[in-house]
Amino acid sequence: MTEHSRTVGPPEPLAGTDELFSLDRAVLHLNHGSFGSVPVPVQRIQRRFHEEQEADPDGFYADLPERVAAARTRIAAALGTDADRLALVPNATDAIAVTLACVPLAPGDQILVTDHGYGTVTQAVRRRAEETGAELRTVTLPLDTPDGVAVRETVLAEVTDRTVLAVLDGITSPTARRIATPDLLAALRGHGVTTVVDAAHEPGMLAGPVPGGADFWFGNLHKWAFAPRATGALVVGPEWTGKVRSLALSWEDYRGFPHNVEWRGTYDYTPYLAAPAGLDLLHELGADRVRRHNEQLAAYGAALLAERAGLTPLPVSAGLSMRALRLPPGVAETLPEAQELMAGMWRRHAVRTVARPWPGGGVMRVSAQVYNRAHEYEVLAAGVAELLG
Ligand SMILES: Cc1ncc(COP(=O)(O)O)c(C=O)c1O
Repeated sequence: MTEHSRTVGPPEPLAGTDELFSLDRAVLHLNHGSFGSVPVPVQRIQRRFHEEQEADPDGFYADLPERVAAARTRIAAALGTDADRLALVPNATDAIAVTLACVPLAPGDQILVTDHGYGTVTQAVRRRAEETGAELRTVTLPLDTPDGVAVRETVLAEVTDRTVLAVLDGITSPTARRIATPDLLAALRGHGVTTVVDAAHEPGMLAGPVPGGADFWFGNLHKWAFAPRATGALVVGPEWTGKVRSLALSWEDYRGFPHNVEWRGTYDYTPYLAAPAGLDLLHELGADRVRRHNEQLAAYGAALLAERAGLTPLPVSAGLSMRALRLPPGVAETLPEAQELMAGMWRRHAVRTVARPWPGGGVMRVSAQVYNRAHEYEVLAAGVAELLG
């Protein structure tokens, strides 16, 4: 029996999770990984901060930097890092922009990314390469590359004496696999390469996710850590903190990192203030139980897609709440085809799922969160089987 065969049934739903979200029950939400979903108690707490803000804006903003700093301290502890190395940012999109603005690049320098990277992150790197004359080198990781050592060796094989920067995913978006492991980061550092980890999916999904050894690491708390959108964290290595500049000049510029990046004038800081409530909720539910539940349910969903719809499971990184499977050749190879597949699942089955184009057959990703139930994956598998004919 393989890991993908359905020898293990779905997990028991966790107590107290039936009414925890305000999701529309008529819809099967099997794509938590894209936008997350904010639990109702966290929505309420954020609403209270909004009410406080609207009752007395001057009073609210007067001591806001200190309150944001307190939230940052709490978030840094949960991520296993120091509060003076972490700036709260809205999301990964912002974090990569801040990061790229502080890494010096010159004509001829090489930057490594992989073909599993997130679209706008890779595009931001490409734009920076074009601006500076650096060369972008995309490491191809064949979809069937086994996990761990094989991934690390494939990336390291592309390093040359001109490689100065590597922008790698902690957990990839289209293919749900771990790339920037501590081992790989250490090896890159050994070659003198500055490392950037797009860890958009790590907070909440992994225990103590900030990998030591990354020069820059950023993650979203609004995906798997039950925080309101938009709550992201940018963590910077000690030798970089003095070099980080905000993209727009801040009143807090004179204080340097993290204040310069975090304070962006008049802005909605309520997601940051409410984010610790999401961490509390994860703790109350039992973060390890949540992770085990999600991993088992995602594995169950993937097994159903393999058995009933004939999809091919991709190699699995242990401990994740998402799984990815290969669609047959000729299906979802282009973006419009992948979009049409997702739209078909929505129109015909009220299923929210995600498929990404890939040469030779697209990739479908399933997510599992505590609100998902086993029967939803049965609908998904039956629907995909039907659409594939
Ligand atoms: C790996 C990865 N990086 C970056 C992002 C962008 O996140 P955001 O839209 O919150 O900036 C995503 C979003 O899904 C992602 O999966």
